[in-house]
Amino acid sequence: MMDSQTQPAAVRARGIVKSFGTGDTQVTVLRGIDLDIYLGEMLLLVGESGGGKTTLLSAIAGILDIDEGDINVLGVPLSGLPTGKRTTFRGQTMGFIYQQFNLLPALTAAENVAVPLLIQKIGRSDALERAQRMLDRVGLNDRAEFLPKNLSVGQQQRVAIARALVNEPRLLICDEPTAALDGPNGQKIMEILREVGRSPSRCVIVVTHDSRIFHFGDRMAHLTDGRIVSIEPIVREGTA
Ligand SMILES: Nc1ncnc2c1ncn2[C@@H]1O[C@H](COP(=O)(O)OP(=O)(O)OP(=O)(O)O)[C@@H](O)[C@H]1O
Ligand SMILES: [Mg+2]
Repeated sequence: MMDSQTQPAAVRARGIVKSFGTGDTQVTVLRGIDLDIYLGEMLLLVGESGGGKTTLLSAIAGILDIDEGDINVLGVPLSGLPTGKRTTFRGQTMGFIYQQFNLLPALTAAENVAVPLLIQKIGRSDALERAQRMLDRVGLNDRAEFLPKNLSVGQQQRVAIARALVNEPRLLICDEPTAALDGPNGQKIMEILREVGRSPSRCVIVVTHDSRIFHFGDRMAHLTDGRIVSIEPIVREGTA
């Protein structure tokens, strides 16, 4: 992991400022975020509820416009891209596990997982086949034809995870990916995410407050008062 830090960062965020609202109700959530994420690592991001973690992930994904600063992802300056190009770039390079899952209610589990592929004009039967394989990996092989409302919350979360992984993203962005999962399922999912982060051409950022999964990470960043106040390596048994 240390070697990877001699490489250029896969994500390089500098001076990110973001406010919501206007006048009396304006809140500045991000107050000058500097953060690098390197290829081959899993970075954990922690901080208090309402502190801006989801906001920061959305900015890194180019889903949310920022007020100030620069975000460079895999060599591409995000803020410089027009919206359409940014969406295409996101579809080709990123996977996003949303805190609220954002599954499409009228589509089956398999169709939901296939969406990122269909958007990239991959044929329907190919896309559904790959979606099925991803569902198998998250332990949902027998739920492919279910609508989200007929799945448990933990199963919905696993569908959302399969969807984020299906296009083999180089940057995987995870917002509380184990929040709805029991211990064993959480560990299983983290092992899959961990594998992505081990690849020398990919990286993972995970927002979490689940201490049961901290040991999967390589580094932990703390977001406090709108800034990254510390980043430290996570020492695991046998890797110190
Ligand atoms: N679209 C929006 N409009 C107005 N305020 C917003 C918007 N999105 C987020 N906020 C505010 O920004 C702050 C940070 O929200 P954010 O969702 O990033 O926090 P978080 O760290 O992810 O919290 P949690 O751990 O509870 O998920 C909150 O105070 C929230 O009210
Ligand atoms: Mg959040």
